[in-house]
Amino acid sequence: MSTEPPDGGTLSNLLKEDRRFEPPAELAEHANLKQEAYERAASDREAFWAEQAERLSWDQTWDRVLDWDDPPFAKWFVGGRLNASYNCVDRHVEAGRGDKVAFHFVGEPVGDTRDITYAELKDLVSQAANALTDLGVQTGDRVAIYMPMIPEAVVAMLACARIGAPHTVVFGGFSSDALASRLEDCQAKVVVTADGGYRRGSASALKPAVDEAVVKAAELGHTVDKVLVVRRTGQDVTWNDDLDVWWHDAVESASTEHAPEAFDSEHPLYVMYTSGTTGKPKGILHTTGGYLTGAAYTHWAVFDLKPDDVYWCTADIGWVTGHSYIVYGPLANGVTQVLYEGTPDSPERGRWWDVIEQHGVTLFYTAPTAIRSFMKQGREIPDQRDLSSLRLLGSVGEPINPEAYVWYRHVIGGDRTPVVDTWWQTETGMIMISPLPGVTHGKPGSAMIPIPGIAADVVDDDGKSVPDGSGGYLVLTEPWPAMLRTIWGDDERYKDTYWSRYPATEDRGAWYFAGDGAKKDTDGDLWVLGRVDDVMNVSGHRLSTTEIESALVSHPKVAEAAVVGAKDEDTGPAVCAFVILRDEAGDGGADIVEELRNHVRKQIGPIAKPRQIMIVPELPKTRSGKIMRRLLKDVAEHREVGDVTTLADSSVMDLISQGVDSGKDEA
Ligand code: PRX
Repeated sequence: MSTEPPDGGTLSNLLKEDRRFEPPAELAEHANLKQEAYERAASDREAFWAEQAERLSWDQTWDRVLDWDDPPFAKWFVGGRLNASYNCVDRHVEAGRGDKVAFHFVGEPVGDTRDITYAELKDLVSQAANALTDLGVQTGDRVAIYMPMIPEAVVAMLACARIGAPHTVVFGGFSSDALASRLEDCQAKVVVTADGGYRRGSASALKPAVDEAVVKAAELGHTVDKVLVVRRTGQDVTWNDDLDVWWHDAVESASTEHAPEAFDSEHPLYVMYTSGTTGKPKGILHTTGGYLTGAAYTHWAVFDLKPDDVYWCTADIGWVTGHSYIVYGPLANGVTQVLYEGTPDSPERGRWWDVIEQHGVTLFYTAPTAIRSFMKQGREIPDQRDLSSLRLLGSVGEPINPEAYVWYRHVIGGDRTPVVDTWWQTETGMIMISPLPGVTHGKPGSAMIPIPGIAADVVDDDGKSVPDGSGGYLVLTEPWPAMLRTIWGDDERYKDTYWSRYPATEDRGAWYFAGDGAKKDTDGDLWVLGRVDDVMNVSGHRLSTTEIESALVSHPKVAEAAVVGAKDEDTGPAVCAFVILRDEAGDGGADIVEELRNHVRKQIGPIAKPRQIMIVPELPKTRSGKIMRRLLKDVAEHREVGDVTTLADSSVMDLISQGVDSGKDEA
């Protein structure tokens, strides 16, 4: 092992990747954005963003593109007025596209489908807006939405936007405690929910959690006025006549006429809670004009959206991806999309591929965690379906390991489709770093460079830009339209969390620190290496967990891997890996652990060779699919496993602990 000293706040650059995929010629020729956009945006950033804002309908144009006089509090399109719901719905109908399908809704029960045109969506949103107003919701009041992935969830969001009532969507998998604390934090007046939704083949209740959350919120001192309930599954619900209102009573009887009011560009659109490493969840505030501009522009540019595309983003609307890339971006662009209620493997493992085949999906956007689970199952399942309609694939949420990228492109995309690895965050509101599919070649594992209009860098502890070939901290060096405006009710926390690491100096303004580590490869392309909290310091080198995980996933027997740096009294921190094998690899064979340790050594070098590798059936993940390395670290360091409340499936940790106990000798 190397004995070199720590390398001054940068991350070691370990993996090398030589595979390249050129943009398809046809796509490149007709691409929405071409090379010149980078230069145009850089030469006059504000003019570029003003041009992007023009794709929306404004009731009143702005006087000033950006007000950055009081950083880090930005105002975009100052003085402009618009209605987000009008932009997502009415204007398409007015332009004669009312018959275009907005949603091919696919419920989890097979055959439970429903197409909704833009004209129908306009009626539904108008009715819901009238119903919310009748329930006492006024402009500025907050509305919580706790729903399955059904059209009414989108309708509720747009109805809130239509009347200027900021929504906060809470993922339907969250507990009543999580819901209660969010209701209290944003003082939600109304909750929109459903009796339940379909997941993994059965009806899964939602309303009981809302009932509990309303009581808990009251204990915290906040009273919810009304609960609006969609009947989805028909399961029994406890009913409180003073509080509960059926959607089919309140909404379906309401008028389909509703005149949208124009709001200030900076009017709050929604609050999305995201958990930090410490403390209570942060309510990320997004406002109207800049956010909608950023979501619509990126959806059009990064997916190279064309009028006939059929788009499908598999995220849940309880996450920011669902907000920006199911609701606001795609609908502002008038797209036809698939909305799917359930899980990828219900009733059987090929469900997603069936949906793609049936609806002729052309643009598909999902997360690396899903891709790796399909890799584990093997290619026979997608191979049985006709996926030839696909022309572009997207990835979001985590670093995509090069091997998963290549599998995605090859098996799902038939080697025709570019893969866009899109880096962004709840806080950024929109895609920030990504290839442009008609311009940038694909490089497996790299999100490449900031899209036109965005400025980012990788810097060391002192804020010095690192040279190509080195790693450091990812920062955003210029404000952008969809940026968060603050943390709901806590401006100080907003400043501290995002802007205190690299404050303004004499030479430059303040930088936004994203919390991620990244490297620039020798071409200057960016590789996001995950949260800096996950970085390990091994023998004086800062190693990113992502690179070692990618090396493991490049072994043909491995589907998924998680790496942590565990303290070791004898040697200092050591690399520990948890590995899921592909189904076809069986138990991997007697020498699997040694084989994998040597594979990492060969791929990266001796420094990264794991001290210990544990073969496990599952990995602990948050409900949005991110690996919780903190818990694995507890296991690796033989501690009692910490707080598991945000795990999607808390039994996973028992499985891992058992596996670790029984496999002690192996490691
Ligand atoms: O660490 C990065 C990772 O996900 C974080 C943001 O998570 P969240 O706010 O939940 O938003 C998820 C949807 C945008 C980032 O700080 N991340 C997201 N996309 C990528 C990624 N890491 C690497 N590559 C990506 N494409």
